[in-house]
Amino acid sequence: MARDVIIFDTTLRDGEQAPGNSMTPEAKLRLASQLDALGVDVIEAGFPSASQGDQQAVRAVAEAVRRSAVAALARCHDRDIDLAGEALRPAARPRVHVFIATSDLHLEQKLKISRDDCVARAEAAIRRARRYTDDVEFSAEDATRTDLEFLCRVVEAAIAAGATTVNLPDTVGYALPGEYGAMFRAVRERVPTSDRVVFSAHCHDDLGLAVANSLAAIEAGAGQVECTINGIGERAGNAALEEIVMAGRVRSGAVAFQCGVNSKEIFRTSQLLSHVIGVFPQPNKAVVGRNAFAHEAGIHQHGLLQNGLTYEIIRPEEVGVPRSTLVLGKHSGRHALERRYQELGYELDEATLAKLYDEFTALADRKREVLDEDLLALLHGRFHDAPEVYGLAHLEVTCGSAPASAQVRLTGPWSGERGASATGNGPIAAAIAAIGAVVERRIEVLNLAIQSVTSGGDSLGQVLVQVRVAGKSLSGHGASTDIVEASARAVVHALNKASYADELEDRSLNAIYLWGV
Ligand code: KIV
Ligand code: ZN
Repeated sequence: MARDVIIFDTTLRDGEQAPGNSMTPEAKLRLASQLDALGVDVIEAGFPSASQGDQQAVRAVAEAVRRSAVAALARCHDRDIDLAGEALRPAARPRVHVFIATSDLHLEQKLKISRDDCVARAEAAIRRARRYTDDVEFSAEDATRTDLEFLCRVVEAAIAAGATTVNLPDTVGYALPGEYGAMFRAVRERVPTSDRVVFSAHCHDDLGLAVANSLAAIEAGAGQVECTINGIGERAGNAALEEIVMAGRVRSGAVAFQCGVNSKEIFRTSQLLSHVIGVFPQPNKAVVGRNAFAHEAGIHQHGLLQNGLTYEIIRPEEVGVPRSTLVLGKHSGRHALERRYQELGYELDEATLAKLYDEFTALADRKREVLDEDLLALLHGRFHDAPEVYGLAHLEVTCGSAPASAQVRLTGPWSGERGASATGNGPIAAAIAAIGAVVERRIEVLNLAIQSVTSGGDSLGQVLVQVRVAGKSLSGHGASTDIVEASARAVVHALNKASYADELEDRSLNAIYLWGV
């Protein structure tokens, strides 16, 4: 019999902790509503004590999400717990998630406290968290490197203090699947009150074993798994939600668990996240990578034509990958566009539809065929997670054998347009330098990825950038049939986020969390 397993999504918290992944409150809200549609059980929305932006984001998610539980992280400090509890007040199903490190390494080197102090802090924190909600999760950070006897002692104390979920994280991605499963079995057997709580797995991917370890924990009785979309997260990332869910579906006989995730929303969620953080999953990423359903070898293609099961264990439709369809031409009307978006699962308001229609007709003039992927790229381009202070009004580049030069005009917080020219090592560099000259800011490009939205020489180019502006690292995206223009749009998007971060006076938006302080 398949057991129900709770899917705890931490894309907005652990996922956000990776460098460059910081998300504005608007972006978190948009992602949270998509995670809710995906059907996850718990959305960990943030770490309120880390920044004002996160307090705001957690509160906004708590107000908006009605189906999934909403969790907020807190160290075992009164202030952290109070900030988390307050931010969660509007939630229909609030969960406070407290954590403290339990391994001797962390206790001695980082926290500089004794084992007894650790237990006392955990108990006090759980009791305080229970003032805000009956749903309290306790995490024993670095559980996999914690002495088993002490781990059992902490877990028993946490249960007695009122924790309802106990998480045993593999914080540094050190465990092997057999070991991780054995730890769950041992703790469940040794702690006499273990049947009162749900045990949770939380795995990092430093050895590429996060998903395997999560499945091993489920097999050993864990009733919750913590994971992120596209496997984003600290260092090598967290266990990928889509891989765990699809392993459960595809191998339902072997890994006997079920969950409430609607797999058809997986691809949509993955794409939205990529646009928000400015990073595509690597092409060979399981389930959501660009090549996950591409079959190059003739022998495979032949097999697939005879029977899809020969080389495909997941049908693209099962995870919501749109088939490339010729949908609309330059003579198609607004209703046809609206209907196609509805068929793709998006209800648009009048204003968004009007803007998208203008962009669609412009694209249809430049591109022979407009496909579903093009429509999705236009839609993502419309999603604004920061006020549009700057806009690209004009771009002209000259390139060839001499250094490239660019002229740019922007709209901005000034009246009319302002322009500047610059040279650079290639047209994209020149365009970015010219944008920097207009806004009088140094724009340092950390990463720039160009991907064609569809096949064909006239494809829309989609650009995701990560830039550093005034010490903040921000992502941006842009799309155009011209990749220089797409890059410029992506940089302007990132600039809008930078000025929004200034406006929020959120100095710690990109700060590393104060682990153990
Ligand atoms: O990896 C970890 O230990 C964590 C905890 C805060 C749950 O993210
Ligand atoms: Zn983690």
